[in-house]
Amino acid sequence: MDLSTEYLGLKLRSPLVPSAAQPLSEKLDNLKRMEDSGAGAVVLHSIFEEQLRQESLELHKHLTNYTDSYAEAASFFPEPEEFQLGPDAYLEFIRKAKASLGIPVIGSLNAATMGGWTDFAFKIQQAGADALELNIYSIPTDPDLTSEAIENSYTDIVRAVKNTVKIPVAVKISPFFTNMSRMARMLDQAGADALVLFNRFYQPDIDLETMEVDPDILLSTPQALRLPMRWIAILYGRIRADLAATSGIHRPEDVLKMMMVGARVAMLCSVLLYHGIEHLRVILDKTEAWMEEHEYESIKQMQGSLSQTHIENPSDFERANYIRALHSYRPRGGVN
Ligand SMILES: Cc1cc2nc3c(=O)[nH]c(=O)nc-3n(C[C@H](O)[C@H](O)[C@H](O)COP(=O)(O)O)c2cc1C
Repeated sequence: MDLSTEYLGLKLRSPLVPSAAQPLSEKLDNLKRMEDSGAGAVVLHSIFEEQLRQESLELHKHLTNYTDSYAEAASFFPEPEEFQLGPDAYLEFIRKAKASLGIPVIGSLNAATMGGWTDFAFKIQQAGADALELNIYSIPTDPDLTSEAIENSYTDIVRAVKNTVKIPVAVKISPFFTNMSRMARMLDQAGADALVLFNRFYQPDIDLETMEVDPDILLSTPQALRLPMRWIAILYGRIRADLAATSGIHRPEDVLKMMMVGARVAMLCSVLLYHGIEHLRVILDKTEAWMEEHEYESIKQMQGSLSQTHIENPSDFERANYIRALHSYRPRGGVN
């Protein structure tokens, strides 16, 4: 069975890729275990520009103007000791990962200024990463900020990074755009080599005992897969960039469905945090068994087979399906 796939111009031996998350990738040993369990590549957890600044603040205390203007914002962010890995350590980690793994290593960056995006993208390339994922995470709350300005800020980042590095660049975004198709095309035209759909925005809870915001992260369930699955189906064949699926991929069936709608890779996070890194092998083996049973010969053969590439107007198709879904629903108990 040929489980290989191509992603970001890299040939991967399998489509399973652990996605960016510090608890997964912070130890070299974990990365080795991912490789041993059949991962096609690994994405390292994101390095944040605030981490870069913390370190440079310590190095350049004489830049008082900078520290003054930064003081207020800094108070929202973790203290330096809460960042388990500073920028130099992150780059060193990439070097070590590259030296000890045979599978591609993808760095992940979340910056806040244009200089931050380009400077660190360059350093990640220098450290030997095979590719770079841009984790663009911003929640606009200013009502004067237009959708167009937000969209342009994304493509500006992609263009600037693409002009700075030679390694392939993936862009991880959230689904919260007015017109995802247009945003995807804009990112594609800006040079993104892949779109990673979708980032899950951290949504805090409230602790009623302390009356404080509770920064607890909820892991996903397979329900979360429907949103990226739909958008990958719609976008497949309509943009040049590869499509990577993330969110809610827990079971072999989830991987298969993502491949069929057109994903090049299926990224795993919550499922590995629930069941351990070695669970990747279980998912891979069962994916392969399903393919054998259904007489598939390769992953490539199924990629895009259930996409909407031949549907002229996906909006009409989605509307028809919406109506059909609402009308065909039958209560499973509790309602007469
Ligand atoms: C604890 C934790 C840490 C994460 N850290 C990052 C990160 O550093 N960078 C990033 O792009 N995504 C990060 N994510 C998002 C995951 O990579 C993934 O895209 C998301 O959780 C959806 O996949 P899942 O449903 O398999 O969890 C994190 C998720 C979790 C649960």
